[in-house]
Amino acid sequence: MRNIYDIIIIGTGIAGLSAAIFLKEAGLNVLVLTKEDKIEETNTNFAQGGIIAWKEGDDPDKLAEDIMKAGCYYNNKRAVEIFSKEAPELVFEFFINKLEMEFTKTNEGKLNYTEEAAHSSRRILHYQDHTGDKIQSALISYANKIGLKILRSHTTVDIITNNHHSSDCQELYKLREVMGLYVLDNLKAEIESFFSHYVILATGGIGNLYQHTTNQPFATGDGLSMAHRAGADIINAEFVQFHPTSLFHKDIKRFLISESLRGEGAKLIDHNGRQFMSDYSDLKELAPRDVVSRAIYEEMRRSGKEYMLLDITSYYKGDIPIRDRFSKIYETCKKGGIDITRQPIPIVPAAHYFCGGIKVDIHGRTSLKNLYAIGETSCTGLHGANRLASSSLLEGLFWAKKAAEDISTNFEKITKERFDTVPDWLTPRYTEEFDPILLEQDWRAIQLTMWNYAGIIRTIKRLDRAKSDLEYFAHRIFKFYKEAVLTRQIIELRNGIISAGIIVNAASHNSRSIGCHYIKK
Ligand code: SIN
Repeated sequence: MRNIYDIIIIGTGIAGLSAAIFLKEAGLNVLVLTKEDKIEETNTNFAQGGIIAWKEGDDPDKLAEDIMKAGCYYNNKRAVEIFSKEAPELVFEFFINKLEMEFTKTNEGKLNYTEEAAHSSRRILHYQDHTGDKIQSALISYANKIGLKILRSHTTVDIITNNHHSSDCQELYKLREVMGLYVLDNLKAEIESFFSHYVILATGGIGNLYQHTTNQPFATGDGLSMAHRAGADIINAEFVQFHPTSLFHKDIKRFLISESLRGEGAKLIDHNGRQFMSDYSDLKELAPRDVVSRAIYEEMRRSGKEYMLLDITSYYKGDIPIRDRFSKIYETCKKGGIDITRQPIPIVPAAHYFCGGIKVDIHGRTSLKNLYAIGETSCTGLHGANRLASSSLLEGLFWAKKAAEDISTNFEKITKERFDTVPDWLTPRYTEEFDPILLEQDWRAIQLTMWNYAGIIRTIKRLDRAKSDLEYFAHRIFKFYKEAVLTRQIIELRNGIISAGIIVNAASHNSRSIGCHYIKK
């Protein structure tokens, strides 16, 4: 007998787990899947800066204006409006009151709101620079408390739709509808069918497509790629946000140096100690991320140096000692031989956040029936052409709530007879064990291509070159995918090359520089 869930959610970051909690508490039968062996392996867990939250005297219109300004007014006004009005209070309602999560307090015992670039007021709550891991563990504890079913080490291969997979040809003539997922059990190396009335993609971003990134290797564009294959609309894929400051260190990779350091006074300097940001923007260190990233990139190019420096030693304006306020950064840099209280930190910009994604409406509904997308993999248009700092954790939580409300209010079942028309996965006849060297080389090729040709500064020529190189890699990877015994690594590589193609294609079709899509003429 086939097990049919009400909802399957892929992803265990803030968006996935929050949606699962809301839906389970609404009385629905929810299953959460993650390809990881550990539930906490998510980009949420690595977030440092903080989360926009309600604050006495702050005005939703001001927040909306900050989001729109950072996004170059390319944003979806409706998404910005509801987010600015409704979302900030959720931090209190959900994290502080329901999950009983702690945020850093001032010496007087009040919540310590911090500042980040392009915010017109201090409205960001944080737990030192461990906001992400604190949120992740609060979500996991609550999920355990309510008995949420989470399957680890399960990598989704493809979304099941009636049009693509049903054996009843009449389903071809119906509206495309999502009915579940084909999923690889990483440990058993078997592909199972998981059926459900709804699917929510909360699979995170695409950072691993770039040579330098603040993301972990699991950010391979899985949701974007599988939604694209199922036929869902994708928008704004040219807008990949680069974070100005990731640690430059020979042994420590993919480590973010939070924007909140600049919010608390840190200055960007070159190798002669010169502060250079005033050459690029009146907002200096607190200009939007695209401006700061390009300034650092330009200074690196001009000086021929591989990195620039961020100095907090004598500029810090906070009350809490640096090593407590930024304990994660302090400890990590210390391990790498850098004392941030005494020395400037070597930094480079790195791919950080995907502002585009699977097109969704304000309820998180994609263009396919029964398929929702939330968090970084989705695009409500909230961020426009560039994202305002510390908005992504709140975005994940807010659209988790919106999607859960929409599903539980309009819940409809697919009949058992229709599920029965979908066959199980057919394993191909020719099967080859994968060669890890080939796989690694393919990833390197994608990452270098994206970094050099579709990175911080793009040109039409570079994008053309990226397109033809990616097509060549794709041809090889798809052949490999068809003939190989499926593993998580091959599934991720296929998702990665498809997502890279989506980004380059979108970038090539937008000849206008705007926000984090910058085309040099
Ligand atoms: C940071 O701490 O700089 C990252 C916060 C964000 O990306 O919103």
